Amino acid sequence: MSNKMWGGRFATGPDAIMEEINASIGFDQRLFRQDIAGSIAHATMLAETGILTQEDRDAIIAGLNEVLAEIEGGSFTFSRALEDIHMNVESKLREKIGDAAGRLHTARSRNDQVATDFKLYVRDTIDTLVVQVHTLQLALVTRAEEEAETIMPGFTHLQSAQPVTFGHHLLAYVEMLGRDAGRLLDARKRLNESPLGSAALAGTPYPIDRHMTAEKLGFDRPTANSLDAVSDRDFILETLAAASICAMHLSRFAEEMVIWSSAQFGFVRLSDKFTTGSSIMPQKRNPDAAELVRAKIGRILGALTSLLVVMKGLPLAYSKDMQEDKEVAFDALDSLSLSLAAMTGMVGDMTANRERMRASASAGFSTATDIADWLVRQLNIPFRDAHHITGQIVALAEQKNCGLEGLTIEDFKFIDQRIDSRIHKVLTVEASVAARQSYGGTAPANVLIQAARWKTELTGV
Ligand code: ARG
Repeated sequence: MSNKMWGGRFATGPDAIMEEINASIGFDQRLFRQDIAGSIAHATMLAETGILTQEDRDAIIAGLNEVLAEIEGGSFTFSRALEDIHMNVESKLREKIGDAAGRLHTARSRNDQVATDFKLYVRDTIDTLVVQVHTLQLALVTRAEEEAETIMPGFTHLQSAQPVTFGHHLLAYVEMLGRDAGRLLDARKRLNESPLGSAALAGTPYPIDRHMTAEKLGFDRPTANSLDAVSDRDFILETLAAASICAMHLSRFAEEMVIWSSAQFGFVRLSDKFTTGSSIMPQKRNPDAAELVRAKIGRILGALTSLLVVMKGLPLAYSKDMQEDKEVAFDALDSLSLSLAAMTGMVGDMTANRERMRASASAGFSTATDIADWLVRQLNIPFRDAHHITGQIVALAEQKNCGLEGLTIEDFKFIDQRIDSRIHKVLTVEASVAARQSYGGTAPANVLIQAARWKTELTGV
């Protein structure tokens, strides 16, 4: 049997393999809400502009609402022969209201229809993701306040660098996530133009009102070029780029959780709810959730890469290649959403081992920079020389197999006569972090100020 929607010039139906490669209903069925909303807006506009009678409009809208209820209720059977969500909905509408259904597609094509549906879907998803990012930020801010005074080692090259506060470390991710939310909202701003009414590629001779449908669907304005409108997928590329950067941040944090929760570090304990055991090693508590969050960037960035490759070299306007946009994008956006939820759970549940963190913070001569700074400030020694003297002090401690705080005043004087007993005050990790009060520095007082600022920003109080 040839196709009902375009069967006029076809003698036979498609080969089974053609149907299989061509159908997108398996994944685009999740666009049903957007598809029906778009059709209702279109039908309403067609009636307002006199292209459709009021009776046909009413029948179409009532029918579409029935289709919506059927899909939501789970009684709708999707047909692969009908290719995609657009034709599944329209075909069901025809079953319900007869010929009037055929008038819905006046002044419209599946090309502008799919672009509209997908934009509406991406817009809704951005809104959900931004809420999720904010929820994770708030969980981090809450923990940062609790851990404002918790001292941990700060690393560069994963070597002990200088002590920092755990609260400061957690707030670093709050900043990253703040930029992520900003990027998603930027993408939302740019995507918010309606392609509907661009028709197949050239526009339409009917006296439609694209501003009206744009407004009904919450778009800021209609797109200004019909060729661009039906062949543009920047909106999903941009969203996937923002999603990839966000997933990269989550991956870095997840990696830290994996390291921190190891027996060797023991900085944090992840809760039973977010770890798994081993079937052979009874002692194990594996950070599976963190590892999976660490890995999700693979498919999210993969989606961005695969879609960029699909789009490159495509001549204007629509080509069926573009149907490949949805499957990877849905998977990527679902993955980011799940990762954000898992991270929020882990952050809220983890316990910090403050003693362990503090002990580790003073390892590796982490207050050496404080000695150099003391030499500069108290003895007016140029920083480069102070760096050299401190290097000799560290070498001596290493030789004596003790920490910097284990050195006596004689030890210090042996390296440089000018040093006096005041030096001991700067050797503790507490003094080190408390001193770092420069704007954006790790001092507990700063952490509390920044946490309060974020709390106000995120909760509005
Ligand atoms: N399922 C198609 C897609 O996802 C809808 C647009 C089809 N347009 C067409 N001219 N065949 O891209």
